[in-house]
Amino acid sequence: MSSERSAIILAAGLGTRMKSSRPKVLHELLGRPLLGHVLKATKAIHSDRRVVVVGAAADQVTAYLEEHAPDIETVNQAEQLGTGNAVRIAMEALPDLTGTVVVSAGDVPLLRRETLERLVEVHEKDGNAATVLTAEVDDPTGLGRIVRDEAGNVLRNVEHRDADEAELAIREINSSIYAFDAEVLREQLAKLNTANDQGEEYLTDVLELAREAGHTIGAFVVGDPTEVLGCNDRAQLAGLRRILRDRVNTELMKSGVTIEDPETTWIDATAKVAPDVLIRPGCQLKGATAVDTGAEIGPDSTLNDTIVGQGARVVRSHTDQATVGEGASVGPFSYLRPGAKLGEGSKVGAYVEVKKSELGPGAKVPHLSYVGDATIGAKANVSAGVIIANYDGVAKHHTTIGEGSFVGSDSVLIAPVNVGDGTYVAAGSAISADVAPGELAVARGRQANKEGWVAKKRPGTVTDEAAKRAIADSEETGE
Ligand code: UD1
Ligand code: CA
Repeated sequence: MSSERSAIILAAGLGTRMKSSRPKVLHELLGRPLLGHVLKATKAIHSDRRVVVVGAAADQVTAYLEEHAPDIETVNQAEQLGTGNAVRIAMEALPDLTGTVVVSAGDVPLLRRETLERLVEVHEKDGNAATVLTAEVDDPTGLGRIVRDEAGNVLRNVEHRDADEAELAIREINSSIYAFDAEVLREQLAKLNTANDQGEEYLTDVLELAREAGHTIGAFVVGDPTEVLGCNDRAQLAGLRRILRDRVNTELMKSGVTIEDPETTWIDATAKVAPDVLIRPGCQLKGATAVDTGAEIGPDSTLNDTIVGQGARVVRSHTDQATVGEGASVGPFSYLRPGAKLGEGSKVGAYVEVKKSELGPGAKVPHLSYVGDATIGAKANVSAGVIIANYDGVAKHHTTIGEGSFVGSDSVLIAPVNVGDGTYVAAGSAISADVAPGELAVARGRQANKEGWVAKKRPGTVTDEAAKRAIADSEETGE
């Protein structure tokens, strides 16, 4: 037997019960669409070629593949005439295929790569012409049943709607994942008919046909039946998501991550979390998020495509395409937008929004600020309520705050502007001109106090009464 391996993934159906304009296989499950998970598992068997059969909403599926898996080929099944028809079209498009062909539906995302590897190993070791991955389930409703003889040999698959009463009682089901010998598969697909309740060409019939032609067929029973759960509607999708969440969380906890409340912690299969990270309740780590050791995340934080350095903290915040440096701290209640880069030991405190800006090591923006399109030097202090006005209504402009500088509370820096190293900006300033090192910039009206104004303009108010008491007191004490 040739050592060549290929995979065919069936994704031509729309998935009507999802009630969606998006094809079923592109619905998201913790960081990847269903199809992405299947592709990831099939990668493990080192296939030389992987082919996805597309049909309904083919343009969307093809666009996904072009962006995320450019090595995958596609074959078009214009009409969904059954799983057997889909595989036949794929095999016709690949006439030179030999060796082992793995076939999987595109909507079984929880299959472990190790299980697929084992299926292929068993198939090749036993010299089978066809090996079907099966599972013993409590509720086999709707699924194909595996019919065996008294010795336990697999005879055939019967679909639920074509099964008699005895067959309906069988709890071993077809997962829709198989390993075939390419030549036998091609031979038997040619014999398929549509004599069944749905009038479709059933891939499952290849098992019986191959056996009748004198080939050895077998089944590999998966230990964990959740691995072969399919997805037909959004309630099932949510069920799969909970299972995958638990699997991801359990693996991380085993690797040394503390997850205080696994039920409210949703970590994408694509995210990375190092040992000795502490994750508090209510967090989501999405996409390419990576959290380094000793960091603390949460409670109630969402991190999307965010890199968090060693020992950093993110508390009750939302981050997207941001980098939080080693030992830096974010939150509570802050928002890091794409391009926010926080240097080592820097701080973004409460109610601060940062976009496309860099904070140098030890820089601080502790309270209530907007920082956009800015570079903030090491150990600079941006006090409460500072706004960087980066947008003039037409274009965005850059602002620099130099190393060790101190920007007083409630100042506006009107971009483009360069506040140099070692400067002070007085509180309440509106800065539109550059400030040179060593300078204090004051850009606000001078204070003027008008004696007796309250008594004259607001007589009889609480303010006036308070003023009168205070003035009388100070006269008594002679102050
Ligand atoms: C199939 C199996 C059934 C198994 C079940 C597991 C057959 C006849 N039945 O049933 O034994 O228990 O999966 O979930 O194979 N597809 C195409 N082109 C088509 C038809 C289907 O690409 O013409 C794709 C679908 O997009 C889907 C997959 O094949 O990804 C399975 O098709 P589906 O119609 O869901 O098969 P089931 O009826 O669930
Ligand atoms: Ca199905």
